[in-house]
Amino acid sequence: MIDIHSHILPNVDDGSDSLKTSLALVIDEIKNDVDKIILTPHNKSGRYDMPKEELIKRFNAFKGEVENNNLNVKLYLGQEVYVCDEFYKKLENSELLTINDTKYLFIEFNYYMETDIVKHVASIIKRGYVPVIAHVERYEYLDWHILYDLKMMGALIQINSSCFIGNKNKRLYQNAINAISENCVDFIASDIHAKRKTYFKKAYKKISKIFGKEVADNLFTNNAEKYFNLI
Ligand SMILES: [Fe+2]
Repeated sequence: MIDIHSHILPNVDDGSDSLKTSLALVIDEIKNDVDKIILTPHNKSGRYDMPKEELIKRFNAFKGEVENNNLNVKLYLGQEVYVCDEFYKKLENSELLTINDTKYLFIEFNYYMETDIVKHVASIIKRGYVPVIAHVERYEYLDWHILYDLKMMGALIQINSSCFIGNKNKRLYQNAINAISENCVDFIASDIHAKRKTYFKKAYKKISKIFGKEVADNLFTNNAEKYFNLI
């Protein structure tokens, strides 16, 4: 399977503060049958502003460590970019990393403060990128019917695997299930941090049971393969 959303790269955001932790996260992915991982460190103005050249350098060094530890997984680089006013300046100055150097840009918004996601998605598309919206279940103010409009505009939608584990948040779970039923979800991914696990095996099992193997394979593997040039 392919995990398109992860905070595994050490010491670049709130994902992992040591190489040891990062390698443990990779092992958790492998145990969950993930064989390709896109590393998506945060880019958030004023908080996570590491230049992309430095991220690429650290990504290559980390790839070397993963190989040295004989961990059989392919790694790719992207960024999870927080959309705010400064974001557009960064986008215009080509300061941001897209997913595996494609036209797909992985984005997130403020979770609580109502944000005009449709307007931002339109602005990003106008600039020649395809927005991939991270963990869409997190935006408390979002009317889930808007997902259909976002999809029609050309955006792609990701949901976290943790939504399908346990019974803690029934509203999130039901929203996620409804969105998949309406064909409004493209990817399920882990958003793994030191404090959050992969959950791919359990989530895959649940989705295949509800929607069948074909839908599960598309959400966990085939769509990522189709869009992100993961050779
Ligand atoms: Fe994330």
